[in-house]
Amino acid sequence: MEVKTFGVIGAGQMGNGIAQVAAMSGLNVIMNDIKDEFVERGLANITKLLGKSVEKGKMSAGEKDAVMGRIKTSVNIKDMAAADFVVEAATENETLKFGVFKNLDEVCAPHVILATNTSSIPIGRISAQTKRPDKVIGMHFMNPVPVMKLVEVIRGLATSDETFKTTWDLSVKFGKTPAQANDYPGFIANRILLPMINEAVFCLYHSVGTAEDIDTVMKLGMNHPMGPLALADLIGLDTCLAIMETLYNGFKDSKYRPCPLFRKYVEAGWLGRKTGRGFYEYK
Ligand code: CAA
Repeated sequence: MEVKTFGVIGAGQMGNGIAQVAAMSGLNVIMNDIKDEFVERGLANITKLLGKSVEKGKMSAGEKDAVMGRIKTSVNIKDMAAADFVVEAATENETLKFGVFKNLDEVCAPHVILATNTSSIPIGRISAQTKRPDKVIGMHFMNPVPVMKLVEVIRGLATSDETFKTTWDLSVKFGKTPAQANDYPGFIANRILLPMINEAVFCLYHSVGTAEDIDTVMKLGMNHPMGPLALADLIGLDTCLAIMETLYNGFKDSKYRPCPLFRKYVEAGWLGRKTGRGFYEYK
């Protein structure tokens, strides 16, 4: 199925990154969020990143303008009626995502694929909110989206081969390398990554080391590009906690219990880079 107009629900750090790579691949993009200020912030971030690419000589000013010209913003989900393929990248909250999928199912034409960028919520649970479970799929981008090469493509029990192929091909068109995962909590990426981050938080909780030392061990000892606590700050501690809860509730296995320090930080609003404070402080 040919996709010309690509819809993105959510203009936050994942949503605006996805909108950027889609527009850079030549698609027309509709980036939707619930408030003008959210879509404006998302658009400003794309403008800033493309501006840096122009400064570095990786893109011409004309190319930047063409990419920006392909992105329309929206604060009304009904605008998704014009999209041929929609990816939802709203906050990692099951009730919220269920509502978005119910709305999209009503608004979008029956042939339109509804993908979710969920980090860990089972695709089957999301697809059950719609009358088109065969056209619901996971399309999981990594943060920062313009830089990271992977898209994890997750098949739900009912996902059709055609839906899978269209999503896989679209990931390739975006310049990404897709990998297939089946539908279990956390899929592949977060089933492995988040318990590692959670264990790093336990190390901090048990005073095995300072945040800096824990991150130094993983950076210099294991060649990770950034330490697990710095990475948690990048992802957002609220998102990390939500993923750990999904793993814990999904498998009912105590090895996935979130570290109490995670909850304490999230309750205090220390969510990482986006709030200026997480395991580190950001100016
Ligand atoms: N947005 C866009 N581009 C960014 C960026 C951002 N937030 N941060 C860095 N970049 C770009 C820079 O502009 C730079 O681009 P050029 O090569 O064109 O100059 C390039 O990335 C490298 O950046 P830096 O030199 O500033 O820094 P770095 O080499 O340390 O790389 C990093 C930064 C790419 C974030 C790197 O530290 C890294 O790969 N970290 C790990 C990220 C990771 O693990 N992501 C997955 C998170 S898990 C997830 O997303 C799934 C989930 O569901 C939770």
